Amino acid sequence: MIPNIAGIYGKPPADVVDLPAGAVQFSPLMPGASELGSQAEGTLASMTMLAPPGTLERRYTLAQALRAVAPGGSFVALAPKDQGGTRLRKEMQAFGCTIEEAARRHHRIAICARPDRLTGIDEAITEGGPQLLSDLGLWSQPGVFSWDRIDPGSALLLQHLPAQSGRGADFGCGVGVLARAVLTSPKVAQLTLIDIDRRAIQSAQRNLDDPRLSFRWTDVREPNPDLTALDFVVMNAPFHDAGTEDRGLALNFVKRAAESLRAGGVCWLTANRHLPYEAAMKPLFKRVDLKIETGGYKIYEAHT
Ligand SMILES: C[S@@+](CC[C@H](N)C(=O)[O-])C[C@H]1O[C@@H](n2cnc3c(N)ncnc32)[C@H](O)[C@@H]1O
Repeated sequence: MIPNIAGIYGKPPADVVDLPAGAVQFSPLMPGASELGSQAEGTLASMTMLAPPGTLERRYTLAQALRAVAPGGSFVALAPKDQGGTRLRKEMQAFGCTIEEAARRHHRIAICARPDRLTGIDEAITEGGPQLLSDLGLWSQPGVFSWDRIDPGSALLLQHLPAQSGRGADFGCGVGVLARAVLTSPKVAQLTLIDIDRRAIQSAQRNLDDPRLSFRWTDVREPNPDLTALDFVVMNAPFHDAGTEDRGLALNFVKRAAESLRAGGVCWLTANRHLPYEAAMKPLFKRVDLKIETGGYKIYEAHT
């Protein structure tokens, strides 16, 4: 039977391509979305994809999506020209697709019918899939924040973070680098890891096995009514949303931390030096101490 489920990945701009009505969302950056890797082969009628910018991540995602679409189904992939768009045609040709290419509003659009026979799919899925980084002792995946190295801002916080105690949260936990350090304190009773990226949460679950942990694939900006009266929050707050700088996102993280802490709770934050955290934190916390400023990063300890 010909499937009738249309797939969509991310948020393709509506003025660049037609968006299918009622499509199933597959982006790991949209909490609640379905997972391409779990979609049985040939069970989607079509796919419309805003292809991700990183090469390994993009090839992985294209390969998974091509596998999921039924032979003959419509496949439309697009990306801004400077974020992988110019590579789409060749990458999809290498998977066995016959591509028609269009350009619109700084995007390249690659269109094809899903071929009967795909080539090179398994390699792309292995190269872009979850993997154990033996030097870091961590599972990670291309596309996750700083996927194959410890971010310098996080490394700086790890050097200066004292032992925490009580109930806490790691906002934007990534693969669990900060949480791994926090859990070394026996005084930590509970730790909630939150990230908007499903791949980060799945990696963190593989990396950390501890009864004190809980994991949430959700947006920190959404209400988390049970995350109140926390003793501590740690974070390396994001300041990019969909590839563009979004200072509001980082400031939302700070606000959410202040709301989630008990009176006298503490937030440890690592931040890029150029971001104006201090001004945003001062009205929200009783005390804000700049602990370290070096190499383009700042570490703050803020008390409610
Ligand atoms: C700067 S990274 C820090 C990751 C990790 N804590 C570390 O130190 O390596 C910020 C993380 O926040 C996540 N993130 C971005 N926007 C988010 C949101 N609105 N809600 C929850 N997590 C978000 C990203 O997926 C990313 O993993």
